[in-house]
Amino acid sequence: MENPGSANDTLLHQVQRLNWTLNVISRSNSVLVHAQDEWSLYKGVCESITSAEGFPLAWVGIPRLDEQKSIEVFASAGSATAYLDGIVVSWGTSSEGNGPSGRAIRTGEIQFNNNMLLSPQFLPWVERAKKHNLQSSFALPITLSSGEIVAALMVYSEFPDAFGDAELKLLGQLSADLGYGVESLRTRAAYEQALIENQQRAQEVVTLLENSVELLAYTVEIRDPYTAGHEKRVSALSVAIAKAMGLDEERIRGLRLAATVHDIGKIQVPAEILVKPGPLSDIEKRLVKEHPTVGYNILKQIDYPWPVAEAVWQHHERLDGSGYPRGLLGNEIILEARIIAVADIVESMFSHRPYRPALGLDAAFAEVQRLSPVQLDQNVVQACLDVFKSEVFQLS
Ligand SMILES: [Fe+2]
Ligand SMILES: [Fe+2]
Repeated sequence: MENPGSANDTLLHQVQRLNWTLNVISRSNSVLVHAQDEWSLYKGVCESITSAEGFPLAWVGIPRLDEQKSIEVFASAGSATAYLDGIVVSWGTSSEGNGPSGRAIRTGEIQFNNNMLLSPQFLPWVERAKKHNLQSSFALPITLSSGEIVAALMVYSEFPDAFGDAELKLLGQLSADLGYGVESLRTRAAYEQALIENQQRAQEVVTLLENSVELLAYTVEIRDPYTAGHEKRVSALSVAIAKAMGLDEERIRGLRLAATVHDIGKIQVPAEILVKPGPLSDIEKRLVKEHPTVGYNILKQIDYPWPVAEAVWQHHERLDGSGYPRGLLGNEIILEARIIAVADIVESMFSHRPYRPALGLDAAFAEVQRLSPVQLDQNVVQACLDVFKSEVFQLS
């Protein structure tokens, strides 16, 4: 445009402009594909615009809902970003709202200004523009499919008449693409936020369940000081065995809970029977043997994502059907219950009981080996011996 008399120059100028526009669009599309958030999208587009010579500034303004209807400089790039220092721009109807960005946001239409320094509407910013040698500009509204205008993209050239009709079409497409990009980022952000909140809620529920279980275990233990800590230790040993057997973390979580409350049903056994030294009568034995069923009936009311109630119900079952309360056989007994059974025997023999002193670990190991594989799961017994042998676990 510098020399309107030469048709070749004009043609060259047009080709250069179109080439620049196409480059901007292709670089911006690449940014659109890769941006992780709105800021990096806008920043990336500004950078791709200003990477071409002759375009020293691009910035994205966000309309705010404050009294002045101000436009916030959200992202910018280029050698002339100092132009934006302390700038006051608005999308309202005051004189600060008559610039390209304000009009683009207010009207939703692309604004060209091919000679800013001579434009009366641009008066509030003319001195700045002169200082940074900015002569022409366009402002592109960024619109969502709902029609909401979320931002405006401003681009400046060092030359007058830098933008023409041909660019309008291409830039209109860029505007639509940016709107689509912002929308998909917002949808993704909303989706990810919902996902995070869901996970947090699930975690809170699990923590609540775990706390409630510990409280339940505690209510049993305060009635029966001899088994105080028994459930906690059985739980720790069960978890160590499960890890040694390679169970996944989620399943171990359920096992830990079940083991922590495996004797919860003793809540219905009179305290004098629990602490009675010496052998129990038949009726007392019957009462004690009901504790897995009582525990099951308590825990089945809580909706755990793991078979907690079932594991508690089965923890005195034996593979050959000699256990109680149902005399289940082999595979009818779930792995969680088989693990708790072994940990229960080992911990009980290790600890002091009202009716006998502690028997020690060696005796406990000999006992579980004697009962394996007829009554106890031999893989569980082996894993139990391994965790002690490798000193992964200690009872204290
Ligand atoms: Fe028990
Ligand atoms: Fe127990």
